[in-house]
Amino acid sequence: MSIVILDFGSQYTPLIARRLRELRVYSVVLPGTSPVEEICTQEPQALIFSGGPASVFDSDAPLPDPRVYDLDIPILGICYGMYLLAQHFEGQMKQIGRREYGKALLTHCEGPLFAGFPGETQVWMSHSGTVTALPSGWRVVAATKENPVAAIECPDARYFGVQFHPEVVHTVEGRLMLENFLQAMKIPRDWVPEHTLELLVREVKEKVGSGRVLLALSGGVDSSTLALLLAHAGIEHIAVFVDHGLLRQGERAEVEQALHALGVNVITVDAAGQFIQALQDVWDPEEKRKIIGQEFITVLEEKAREYGPFQFLAQGTLYPDVIESAGGAGTASIKSHHNVGGLPKELVFKLLEPLRFLFKDEVRELARLLGLPDAIRLRHPFPGPGLAIRILGEVTQEKLEVLRQADAIFIEALRMTNLYQDVWQALAVLTPWHSVGVMGDERHYGYVLALRAVTGVDGMTADWARLPAEFLDKVARKITCQVPEVGRVVYDITSKPPATIEWE
Ligand code: XMP
Repeated sequence: MSIVILDFGSQYTPLIARRLRELRVYSVVLPGTSPVEEICTQEPQALIFSGGPASVFDSDAPLPDPRVYDLDIPILGICYGMYLLAQHFEGQMKQIGRREYGKALLTHCEGPLFAGFPGETQVWMSHSGTVTALPSGWRVVAATKENPVAAIECPDARYFGVQFHPEVVHTVEGRLMLENFLQAMKIPRDWVPEHTLELLVREVKEKVGSGRVLLALSGGVDSSTLALLLAHAGIEHIAVFVDHGLLRQGERAEVEQALHALGVNVITVDAAGQFIQALQDVWDPEEKRKIIGQEFITVLEEKAREYGPFQFLAQGTLYPDVIESAGGAGTASIKSHHNVGGLPKELVFKLLEPLRFLFKDEVRELARLLGLPDAIRLRHPFPGPGLAIRILGEVTQEKLEVLRQADAIFIEALRMTNLYQDVWQALAVLTPWHSVGVMGDERHYGYVLALRAVTGVDGMTADWARLPAEFLDKVARKITCQVPEVGRVVYDITSKPPATIEWE
């Protein structure tokens, strides 16, 4: 039993699935044009037609299999999905000059979808057409100022269409609307995270079969969870943990111990010398990323040869990584980072990325089910290139040591004062500048070190954390006292945007 989301290409489609999981309903995303037989294998209790970039006026616009209308189950069409419904039932539409994006105020809400809605509420629009005449048996159930037909329904058939996107956070009551749809259509809400785990186990088993998997383990929560998933599914694997010398204090031992204890076959490669050598004299952040990515691949290839053959390369790619890297609409590619896309074409492995539709909090929940210790499970995100992009300019052993000590003091203090979980990510950044100070009667020049802590939900936007002044005072004193190379500590008060979380 499920809800089948027919995907017509919207960048938000995985968000619909996520919202349904939050509402404890299982859903499956299938291509919009899937034949009805394939849809039926999922035993759908309802269908959702997603949005999409096409226009129903295009001759090659993707359409659902017309037999879906014979299934006699509820359908919710979102944006392009709403036009599909209107078009199929012979309503009339017109195209507007250019696609309209952004916030709008929804008013005149009626009917089951909008139960409990306030008189007006903000929604997120992204559309290029408008319905001008309704099919018979349909009625308008919400409007916006620019658009008198913002939502429609055909109660007898249990069909609904909304022009806005209920799945994005900018639609303030979007969750309530989806909840109303489930309630009105009597769809049971009994999905629990254990089911996600079962499904993922089934998916990797089916995909990998008796193949062997090489896992690129970074030690972060994503790849550690993936390692546990493979071990839990009984997949033959080797998790290559590349110690590039750019890790934080104590990180390597912590990861090795935790994963060994949970049955993961971890092989640590001590490649610090090779990475730091390759980073010599390099100042440009993107160049650093490329070099690190390249070295990483070299190590993986070596290990693949040594322990292979492997048919699959597993990566802990999450959904936000996919959008940031793909640079989809609204999320221009910001940095050449993240897992996807960095692999050379000649790599003959098939990619295994079972977490690619999940978000960080969902992966943390899976990790809990798989027994990952909280120290790793709840750890702040850490970038693949590690401390190299937190040392502005050239990376040296000496700078790494200074940064590691300062970072450890900051993080430990956050943990001790129970502030660690209140921030999404906290880090120290070592600048290349020396600033003047006094020590005893002497002038002293020490590094300028920045502390950064941000709040947020997914790292795509973030606000600087209002950490208490007394806390920052204690941390700054401790750092300058215990790490004498640091002469000055500053706190970063910029949000993302316009700044990014990392300094490079
Ligand atoms: P920014 O700095 O873009 O960071 O606001 C957003 C999130 O991504 C992480 N990040 C990276 N992760 N490789 C990674 O694997 C990278 O090159 C990279 N750069 C940034 C960052 O730590 C934050 O969580």
